[in-house]
Amino acid sequence: MGSNDVTAMQPADPFVPQVYRVAATHRELSDTITLKLNPLSGQRPAFQPGQFNMLYVFGVGEVAISMSGDAARDAGFVHTVRDVGAVSGAIARLEPGAAIGLRGPFGTSWPVAAAEGADVILVAGGLGIAPLRPAIYEILAKRAHYGRVAILFGSRNPTDMLYRHELEEWRQRLDIEIEVTVDHADAAWRGSVGVVPALVPRFVFDPDETFALVCGPEVMMRFTVGALRHAGVPANRIYLSMERNMKCAIGLCGHCQFGSAFICKDGPVMRYDRIADILAMREI
Ligand SMILES: Cc1cc2nc3c(=O)[nH]c(=O)nc-3n(C[C@H](O)[C@H](O)[C@H](O)COP(=O)(O)OP(=O)(O)OC[C@H]3O[C@@H](n4cnc5c(N)ncnc54)[C@H](O)[C@@H]3O)c2cc1C
Ligand code: FES
Repeated sequence: MGSNDVTAMQPADPFVPQVYRVAATHRELSDTITLKLNPLSGQRPAFQPGQFNMLYVFGVGEVAISMSGDAARDAGFVHTVRDVGAVSGAIARLEPGAAIGLRGPFGTSWPVAAAEGADVILVAGGLGIAPLRPAIYEILAKRAHYGRVAILFGSRNPTDMLYRHELEEWRQRLDIEIEVTVDHADAAWRGSVGVVPALVPRFVFDPDETFALVCGPEVMMRFTVGALRHAGVPANRIYLSMERNMKCAIGLCGHCQFGSAFICKDGPVMRYDRIADILAMREI
């Protein structure tokens, strides 16, 4: 780099999407796809589990999508997207080789380092397991640094179970506890039936030494927090990933306002004691 090469020295403008290429796609469920995105040139920026990117489909629009891959091992970004509308649908239809705009990473992260030495309970509902998966990878990679590790996952039914094969692989491990529950069982289902917060009391072993990482629909998170608090987990050791519509993603436009906070920069991962009042007031 020459000494007068100013552009190469400046950080990327957070408003300008960088061009990425879809390297691979994998259909997870009828409406959900995982994409691997590689930068057109250079390396992707580092990210922390829990952070998100803004993905921009040219001519369609931009949405916030959490990282769902392994921060330490994946060369590009991995994102899991459910087709629920115009932009997510356009992302879900991208084929390998397609170009996509990407801004990020943005936002706060799961307290994976702070939880070292403690028990960790990760509670996910539906697509909420996607933003938690990078934290699971990191915790499993440093398994000896943690106490007991439990993953509790609630899915609507066995057919809609995201990352099912991976959950089955993790279940083979003797050093973590995994419990999966479905709202509606089919004839082949032999696991739990019911909502995921109901599993919590069985997995909180030493509440004062527990960190809880929770992601899913807001109503599920509220009930999960209730179960965790009832089991004695301190409010300042419970972390939730919040969702609101995003535009700028850098705390300027106010679209993602949540009380006095902005989800894009004060979140998406937020400590429960800091948002308890506002969470109690909100309706989904
Ligand atoms: C921090 C953050 C992380 C996110 N991570 C992911 C992720 O990893 N994967 C992912 O698929 N999405 C994620 N989202 C949601 C995503 O940003 C979009 O809101 C979603 O994809 C819908 O955008 P759309 O423009 O396609 O649909 P819209 O046109 O906004 O909505 C179409 C319809 O779908 C409904 N809808 C909107 N969002 C959702 C939703 N999340 N679930 C069900 N129905 C919905 C709307 O009410 C509307 O009826 C995240 C959002 C935030 C704020
Ligand atoms: S998206 Fe603009 S302030 Fe958060």
